[in-house]
Amino acid sequence: MNRLQRVRATAYGKLTLSLRVLGLRPDGYHEIEALTVSIGQPSDVVEVEAVPHPGGVTFAVVGETDHVPKGMDNLAARAAEDVMLRAGRSGHGVLLTLRKRIPAGAGLGGGSADAAATIVAVRTLLDLELSDEELLDVAAGLGSDVPFCIRGGAAWMRGRGEILDPISLRAGLGFLVAIPPFRLATPTVYAAWDELGGPEATRRVEPQGTVARLIGALANDLEPAAEAVAPDLREFREALERAAGRPALLAGSGSSYVVPLERGVDGEDLAARVSRSLRVPVVAARSTSVGVRIGS
Ligand code: C5P
Repeated sequence: MNRLQRVRATAYGKLTLSLRVLGLRPDGYHEIEALTVSIGQPSDVVEVEAVPHPGGVTFAVVGETDHVPKGMDNLAARAAEDVMLRAGRSGHGVLLTLRKRIPAGAGLGGGSADAAATIVAVRTLLDLELSDEELLDVAAGLGSDVPFCIRGGAAWMRGRGEILDPISLRAGLGFLVAIPPFRLATPTVYAAWDELGGPEATRRVEPQGTVARLIGALANDLEPAAEAVAPDLREFREALERAAGRPALLAGSGSSYVVPLERGVDGEDLAARVSRSLRVPVVAARSTSVGVRIGS
């Protein structure tokens, strides 16, 4: 059988539809319970190519690279190294190119999605003999959200995020994702949550469609912390809610906001109108059943 020379994978972002923070743990992470879905838009693309030299991982990132680490400290580059090391194949030459579209620091799990797609792409490229459990273990070592991005679809995330309870949820649920002109770092938002004494979310958003069978109300406990770190966020959210005519909830640790849409709403048309009104990128996103798609 001919060895593959090149593998391409699409890395899908994710939305936390609801995020409860249960407390600070002795290891510095926070215990969470989050209802999370993969979304088809925005997405990144990872390309891996087997090369005779140099040995090890060579990394390049192109596209929308603001706030994206350009060197081997990028989570995707580390993911390639870690999965090759776990399989005892770290001497192989792999050229990794990351095409970025998911904005960094927006709470859409872009870095985690890139790491997940890289793990799966490198396993395919080098035909690594690693089980799904071993892949998830490598993923959890890279970041709390990487295991979810590998499995994709919909799940309750527990522990620090790495414990997954998959949910069968119809793909194609509609959302607007509005991206403000500023970014937030996850550790900063969690630290603010600690400093504020561990607040609970004060706002609740009604779930739409089949999500209503899973949860009575959507809330994000990091929202008060994020709005304290970046006071402009609140005004942004209120303007978004006026323009969209629907309530919005912070995505993960921010800075994006999510507007859940009822079935049958033309998300593209609404996204275009809200984007014009707020003068920021607004994406019409749909939930998808996978976190990584090989070969597209
Ligand atoms: O796991 P990951 O490396 O993605 O986490 C980045 C940072 O986010 C952690 O260092 C921590 O500050 C914060 N975090 C947390 N609790 C979680 C997940 C992340 O405090 N459950």
